[in-house]
Amino acid sequence: MTPAGEKIAFLIRRGGPLRFAEFMETALYDVECGYYTSGRKVFGREGDFYTSEQIQPVFGRLVAAAAEKWKQECAGEFHLAEWGAGRGEMEEQLGGFNYAAVDRGRDGAPLKLEGAVFSNELFDALAVDAAKRSQGVWRLMRVGLEDGEFVWTEGEELAGEWLEYALRAGSFIEDEEAWIELPVELRRMLAEIDSRLVRGRIVAVDYGYSERELRRFPAGTLMAYRKHRASCEVLRNPGEQDITAHVPLTYLMESAAAMGWRDGRLRTLSQWILEECGESGVERAVAAESETEKLRLRLKLKTLLFGMGESFRVAEWNKLA
Ligand SMILES: C[S@@+](CC[C@H](N)C(=O)[O-])C[C@H]1O[C@@H](n2cnc3c(N)ncnc32)[C@H](O)[C@@H]1O
Repeated sequence: MTPAGEKIAFLIRRGGPLRFAEFMETALYDVECGYYTSGRKVFGREGDFYTSEQIQPVFGRLVAAAAEKWKQECAGEFHLAEWGAGRGEMEEQLGGFNYAAVDRGRDGAPLKLEGAVFSNELFDALAVDAAKRSQGVWRLMRVGLEDGEFVWTEGEELAGEWLEYALRAGSFIEDEEAWIELPVELRRMLAEIDSRLVRGRIVAVDYGYSERELRRFPAGTLMAYRKHRASCEVLRNPGEQDITAHVPLTYLMESAAAMGWRDGRLRTLSQWILEECGESGVERAVAAESETEKLRLRLKLKTLLFGMGESFRVAEWNKLA
């Protein structure tokens, strides 16, 4: 068993089956042996998956082009903080904007800042609970231990806020049996950003679904990534593979609006690049001294626009003081 698995097994032996959010939190973020926190190579070719942030310098230059606009809108001293900054791959391109990276165990941003908060694939990495509808009843799905293997086990019936959430989400799924994730950390994340950003723009890039799109995911959206292979075996090898859930975009937008963030807007990443960065931003993103280099950068832009650009969404808001 992996070191994170040992810790999870100990918790199960002591207190019974765990909520999936507890399993995921330990698997990804345990300070000693979590997937993201133990220092293993997770990003890029040598790791398990790519994000837009590995498409440098193009992605960084595009965000920098947008950041110039955000800076002009800012009356005071402009800061650009990136939440969930990972390896800090945006640092080089965003360094000119009072850039600060925030991640687990790393926080370079001022306690209170004015300007913009940017994130890429932060929300899909937050721990979620899992729930299943069977014969019309929604139950929490917990993680148990059987013969040294982690297994799904039915837990208590949902109640209160999360039952309401499941009933609403479930109404978009036709199949009698359905799985969904409960985004139990999402509002806490928004509140954390809200408590630090005094005034400015919030921009979150991620993959997700609107409520209407839920019918495409009757088995939920939990996925594991290891060595560039995706699988549904999220209970395997905790600490040694990534675990993600698509972001519930309707809930994200409603939660942000309820907190008072204004002008909520959702676009695909490619729409956002073309509209927000503008023609000159796109041109600068692929500027190079040699034709060979220009060609290389254009191919990267193409991957962003036509590969990730259609499946990723950009959610944006303004926070007024
Ligand atoms: C999928 S990775 C994305 C990293 C980087 N933004 C990229 O696109 O390559 C998710 C990142 O979010 C970070 N993260 C998760 N929870 C966080 C939290 N509460 N505060 C800050 N960062 C967090 C993880 O540690 C991880 O580095």
